Amino acid sequence: MTPGYRLISIDASRVDEMAEVTSWGFIEEIKPEDRPDFAGMVPFGRARATEIQDAALGDVGTLAGVAAAYDFRMRVPGGALVPVAGLTMVSVHTAHRRRGLLRAMMADHLADARSRGEVASALYAAESEIYQRFGYGLAARQVDVRMARGATLRDVPGSADLKVRIERLSRDRHSAVIARVQQDLDRPGTMTLDHAEALRARFGDPTPEHARGEKLRIVVVERADGTPVGYAMFRRKGTWSPEGIPDGLLLTREFAATTPAAAHRLWSVLLDVDLVSTVEAEPLAIDDPLLWLLTDMRAAKPRLHDNIWLRIVDVPAALTAREYLCPVDAVIQVVDPLFPDNAGPWRVTSRSGTGHVESAPGAEPDVVLSVQELGAAYLGGVSLTSLAAAGLIEERRPGAVRALAAAFESTSAPVSNLHF
Ligand SMILES: CC(C)(COP(=O)(O)OP(=O)(O)OC[C@H]1O[C@@H](n2cnc3c(N)ncnc32)[C@H](O)[C@@H]1OP(=O)(O)O)[C@@H](O)C(=O)NCCC(=O)NCCS
Repeated sequence: MTPGYRLISIDASRVDEMAEVTSWGFIEEIKPEDRPDFAGMVPFGRARATEIQDAALGDVGTLAGVAAAYDFRMRVPGGALVPVAGLTMVSVHTAHRRRGLLRAMMADHLADARSRGEVASALYAAESEIYQRFGYGLAARQVDVRMARGATLRDVPGSADLKVRIERLSRDRHSAVIARVQQDLDRPGTMTLDHAEALRARFGDPTPEHARGEKLRIVVVERADGTPVGYAMFRRKGTWSPEGIPDGLLLTREFAATTPAAAHRLWSVLLDVDLVSTVEAEPLAIDDPLLWLLTDMRAAKPRLHDNIWLRIVDVPAALTAREYLCPVDAVIQVVDPLFPDNAGPWRVTSRSGTGHVESAPGAEPDVVLSVQELGAAYLGGVSLTSLAAAGLIEERRPGAVRALAAAFESTSAPVSNLHF
């Protein structure tokens, strides 16, 4: 730890101080009336901070940096759920930056994730450069689209038979809906919400979040028997042109659909809201059904950017949990300066899809890659061949990268639909 600071756990009694540090970090004002909302988003069960200990650095006992983590389970290729830490709210007060506080909090976080038996840490990065130095790889990318009201969709049978509710977002009414739909999603990168703090956080909506419009609303799509099959949290911003023509904006914060008909119905509703001329939708996986349903996909002006970054902390557990699309038998070595026991070499074999990973001491590796590249490829959204083509993976046995890349593929592109 940087001299003059110490790492501590903080509880909800220090929420005001936490809000103060994050408001410095993220350039936003968390007003006193928003504190309950903000507090509801913080996983205090896993909130950590750096506290000033030296009067020369500031008021002793005040916080200079904060970080917290959600308990998630993440879907991996093949359908298994693995425990993952969802790192969030990482901030260092502007007056204390570049003194190593983030580095200390990251070492603490990653060691904590390992000690809890999590296989990886996942995050959304405020800036994409920050976390690569800690071993995070870009595991999923997302597409954002901007559609005109009334954009037409191809038909999907069964869409019209589904029921729709459009309501103000409410923790009491919608917790079970959201948890159920997240649980039913089979896309790699999906985070489930079976931990109370992670679920509660989805309902936080403090001023900086809703500054672009009203407070959050929700569309829920259900089967006739009431089973939820889709939802979208959204907000509208009502504006009119100087000529008095309605020019409102509808923004999705997160959405999910577990069947093709549910996806069709969800977007049919969101693309036809009164006084709204534009619908901004995010985050879409790069193969999201909406991109196939839109008859004029180009008009939606898709934009690609990073979704989650993944830092594998337990290589054998992570590699054992996922499926392999074709038979594979390869020895890999993983470069991991923080956790040398991740290095291997590991012999990865699979005949029927299920992975088997064993330590292979002394074996000559076929492929050498850093833990960052392994994290990028883990969910099947980034091909090992493309990383090798960029010179980021070393192939020691000719053909080994191609064989491993084929096995690492995923049949659907990964994405985390929950921003955290
Ligand atoms: C990003 C932030 C947490 C960094 O905290 P910090 O205590 O200044 O970071 P450290 O001093 O521990 O720096 C650790 C390393 O990361 C690098 N680094 C830190 N912030 C960086 C950034 N924004 N871009 C690129 N590199 C960065 C440092 O140069 C240092 O590199 P080195 O160890 O190779 O010398 C802090 O600047 C901050 O709160 N920013 C605003 C909020 C934010 O972006 N949070 C991240 C949310 S995902």
